[in-house]
Amino acid sequence: MLAVAVLAAGKGTRMKSALPKVLQPLAGATLVERVLASCEILAPQRRLLILGHQAERVQATLEHLPGLEWVLQQPQNGTGHAVQQLLAPLAGFDGDLLVLNGDVPLLRPDTLAVLLARHQASGAAVTLLTARLADPSGYGRVIADPDGAVHAIVEHRDCNDEQRRINLINAGIYCFNWEKLAAVLPELSADNDQGELYLTDTVAMLSPAMHVEVADAAEISGINDRLQLAQGEAVLQQRLRDHWMREGVSFVDPGSCTLSEGTRFGRDVMVEPQCHFRGTNTIGEGCRIGPGCLVEDTTLEAGVEVLHSVLRGAVVGARCSVGPFAQLRPGAVLAEGCRIGNFVEVKASTLAAGVKVNHLSYIGDADLGADVNVGAGTITANYDGVRKHRTVIGAGSKTGANSVLVAPITLGVGVTVGAGSTLTRDVPSGSLALGRAPQRIKDNWPGPQP
Ligand code: UD1
Ligand code: CA
Repeated sequence: MLAVAVLAAGKGTRMKSALPKVLQPLAGATLVERVLASCEILAPQRRLLILGHQAERVQATLEHLPGLEWVLQQPQNGTGHAVQQLLAPLAGFDGDLLVLNGDVPLLRPDTLAVLLARHQASGAAVTLLTARLADPSGYGRVIADPDGAVHAIVEHRDCNDEQRRINLINAGIYCFNWEKLAAVLPELSADNDQGELYLTDTVAMLSPAMHVEVADAAEISGINDRLQLAQGEAVLQQRLRDHWMREGVSFVDPGSCTLSEGTRFGRDVMVEPQCHFRGTNTIGEGCRIGPGCLVEDTTLEAGVEVLHSVLRGAVVGARCSVGPFAQLRPGAVLAEGCRIGNFVEVKASTLAAGVKVNHLSYIGDADLGADVNVGAGTITANYDGVRKHRTVIGAGSKTGANSVLVAPITLGVGVTVGAGSTLTRDVPSGSLALGRAPQRIKDNWPGPQP
């Protein structure tokens, strides 16, 4: 049996934020969500979250995750005090307890699996994750034998000069035999520099205590301030880019692009510099994106080209071309082979195959049939000040430059709209619609005087 407890009650003073530290975002997910995700492969029977500072806010953010038990720590009197709060909910629990710090979000699931396997194989009372750091300052130092037996952990601020030189540090990740830990938890004392109850003090009270050293120290970085937050983001971004490059995606300048965990790429996608992917995206095979794009919650089918554009909540059919300087907003659904050019905005509209909107247009709340050609500067006037209305344009129609289509309005199939028209009434199929003042000529006009 395995229970996981995540310590997430602390305030995170060093972050200097209105947001509780564990809710700070990293590559699109909060710190604590990342910590919870990292232990999923262990399939724990119980998942307990220790909350304190802004507990309601943290709980509300995580409510969507199934199977979490909420444990309140009030006040927050240290990591040992936090784990003491488990004595009631885990009374009679027979198994191991994995304790994770809520601010250590870069852990690889495999690392936790190794920790648990070593702990169970050795039968230790506690096994903790450690790392050797060139600069161990701030971390608890681990006093251990060369064979891996641990005697004690001393917090940085409680170290003497000799202990401060130890570069083996406590990662804040522990596997405990719960029964043995529960027996010593009530004996913790606050006899330290911070006057708090330290979970780390239980290590000296338990035997045998062992440690497992991680190879990649970046994994166990604790996030305490904005600098570490930015460093953590960089680590995650690099992992995501490396993963997709191995899967067959090309990045011209990887370091200039950011990805989200929810973005999936097909093979032979080419990502040019300065492209950013947020939320949930599916990018089809052979797409070429960038430079300079923001793509969020969007699907691109195979062979789409996007240049210097913003796409949010859009679906773009195969071999479409978007940009430069276009914006696709939520509900823009383009069938294959459409062409969206510069300074064009499309929102909540369906474009059938082969539609061209090449220059300076707003297409909102509209349905365009196949091969419609939208002239430069054509606008769907969808809003009457109170409500939005739809525009329907039949297949093969062509609007002249600077047309205004005042919705609700329907243009039939194969309609031609003269340039500069403002149309307020439906247009039957196969006709020409003109809605502009006729041109007048005055002969012998003097013109501007010098
Ligand atoms: C802790 C360890 C230190 C280790 C480091 C690794 C202790 C005493 N020290 O130090 O040995 O090297 O992590 O990153 O454990 N929390 C609570 N309730 C509290 C206090 C803290 O839930 O009363 C939570 C925090 O929200 C945080 C975690 O425990 O997620 C760690 O607390 P933090 O104050 O950051 O501990 P460190 O000083 O970093
Ligand atoms: Ca910390």
